[in-house]
Amino acid sequence: MAKTISLYGSSIGQKIVSAFTGLFLCGFLVIHVSGNLLLFKNDGGVSFDHYAGALSSSVLIRSIEILLFAGFAIHIFWGIRGWIFNRRARPKNYAEYNPSESSSLFSRIMLLSGSIVLFFLVVHLKNFWVPIRFGAQDLSDYDLVRIAFQSPLYDFFYVFCLVLLAFHLRQGFQAAFQSVGLRSLWLKAINMVAIIFWLLIPAAFAAMPLYFLLAKGGR
Ligand code: HEM
Repeated sequence: MAKTISLYGSSIGQKIVSAFTGLFLCGFLVIHVSGNLLLFKNDGGVSFDHYAGALSSSVLIRSIEILLFAGFAIHIFWGIRGWIFNRRARPKNYAEYNPSESSSLFSRIMLLSGSIVLFFLVVHLKNFWVPIRFGAQDLSDYDLVRIAFQSPLYDFFYVFCLVLLAFHLRQGFQAAFQSVGLRSLWLKAINMVAIIFWLLIPAAFAAMPLYFLLAKGGR
């Protein structure tokens, strides 16, 4: 019990919770981007509709979604908590305070990029997840995505948010391994895996709106 309290109250505890939930969410991104690659299959959306339909009707996936949303909620809560923690810990005298030398700069940048990604997530869920899960649409799932991504403004918003997601993942991924004490052990391997997460995955996501904007989804 005492251990739980000290983990909850410490900045190490905050970093460990942020690290584990962040890595869990990275796992979700791998699965999400892999399924969404079906959007590029030139079959008029048949494979993607099949995939999205299977996700909506699976009880297992729906249960895992609860875990996923809990993961997001915990990650966001502890991120904000860590930012408050750093804010309180910084020197009161601004003449002594140099943000570039302080972990609070990292925390502020993570909070800002994370907040924009959160805003993106709300818009994203409202436009795609809600209509697909709750059947509030006449369009096929593929057409829903295709039509949304034919708007240059919407695509710009997506690509902008994905650049921030890349930034958030780049900082967060490396910090996560540092927090769990593995970064110095496997530095090279971790840096290479990090590239998959902060560069390849956001780039693959960003290719989706651009594909529909430029190639019109092959329809
Ligand atoms: C730009 C490329 C993206 C496309 C085309 C896309 C498409 C979709 C679609 C169609 C759904 C609803 C159906 C489904 O569950 O698969 C969905 C759900 C979801 N998306 Fe995305 N997504 C993209 C990027 C992202 C990113 C970058 C994130 C996270 C930062 C994200 C997070 C989610 C979440 C949390 C859900 C609800 C959980 C789920 O059921 O999978 N998506 N997305």
